[in-house]
Amino acid sequence: MGECRQKTLELFTNITDELFCQQAHPDFSPIGWHLGHIAYTEAYWILEKCAGLSTQFTQYNRLFNASGLPKFERQNLPSIEIIFDYLDTIRTQVFAYLEKAPLEKQERLWYWLLQHESQHNETIIFVLQLLQRWENGFYPKLNFSSDSPSTKTLDQTMVEIPAGVFEMGSNHLESQDNERPSHQIYLGSYSLDIYPVTCLQYREFMESEGYQKHQFWSAEGWQWLQKNPVSTPLYWVDSSDWDNHPVCGVSYYEAEAYANFMSKRLPTEAEWEKAASWDIFTQQKQSYPWGNTTPNGQVCNFDGMVGHTTPVNTYQSNCSPYGCYDMLGNVWEWTASWFRTYQGFKSYPYSGYSQTYFDDQHRVLRGGSWATRPWGLRNSFRNWYHPWVRQILVGFRCAK
Ligand code: AVJ
Ligand code: FE
Repeated sequence: MGECRQKTLELFTNITDELFCQQAHPDFSPIGWHLGHIAYTEAYWILEKCAGLSTQFTQYNRLFNASGLPKFERQNLPSIEIIFDYLDTIRTQVFAYLEKAPLEKQERLWYWLLQHESQHNETIIFVLQLLQRWENGFYPKLNFSSDSPSTKTLDQTMVEIPAGVFEMGSNHLESQDNERPSHQIYLGSYSLDIYPVTCLQYREFMESEGYQKHQFWSAEGWQWLQKNPVSTPLYWVDSSDWDNHPVCGVSYYEAEAYANFMSKRLPTEAEWEKAASWDIFTQQKQSYPWGNTTPNGQVCNFDGMVGHTTPVNTYQSNCSPYGCYDMLGNVWEWTASWFRTYQGFKSYPYSGYSQTYFDDQHRVLRGGSWATRPWGLRNSFRNWYHPWVRQILVGFRCAK
């Protein structure tokens, strides 16, 4: 927990009051709100629910509760010092409680809390990005060498995944409510791209006037495009330096249009998860594409260690038994699936965590990004966003 908090606090070095309170996009709260909400959530679940203490910071009940104020009313915040203090006060009391807490009975909640903070941590990273911290040198500069994977020619091939049953979801203690219960699913055969779609490949779509041609877009996607007349992904850099990096900053609609352009489609989340996790020889599910050992910086691009995307063929061992690369880390990947329950779903720890979003308005994303913290990086993890969201941490791969 200390490690996770350290990573959260690091994001707030040199943050002005203005940046702290600024709403970068109508879909997302200011970074200062996320910080207060982290403390609020910890106080609520540990100090109030577990330790049975009464609410101390009653003034934050509405402000920092996710179902309190609408997002656009979250800009009037206490100063960064006050929120730091709030975090600290809560954490001190949590540590005091830890000494006598019945941890065996609360393990799932502690895991949940850790994941909760790390997810907000990732959200803070891309909101900072929306506030254009990139130009300000917030991220390390790219350093290319001539024989780096970024200059190699990639064969974007697909692997064929044979028909059969696999195990979807997970019952692990660390798993979120929406990953449970684990269940068997039969899928017919399909093919999946071995890499995420790269900038070079996406450029072909742009140069073929993909953004101008109605035929590649779904009705909903075309409507979105008319209201939001874009012709490149958000954050698009017009340079061959990025050729083998995954394209990012695309909405679901753009991903879908690209897939149509290629006479492909987006994978369902079941297709994604099978390709990432199923070992056909042992008939076992793996937690990660490379096996069951926890991720580290040698195996994939995550946890902000690199600070940006890497060419899709950088990590040779980030490969699933079926031969798909870069499924965890680098960029989140849009899938064709709506965020829905698995049969037998039980909400935890509250219905607003997942259940509220089972509304057929959110698409599932899989795989984690270069910014995903270790606690949220695994094959069964499900993320979800409205299809129009364009995010620096999001790309896709195609199926057929
Ligand atoms: C899964 C990233 C969409 O940030 O809204 C955090 C995670 N849920 N607190 C979000 C979440 C409650 C969620 N996302
Ligand atoms: Fe939250």
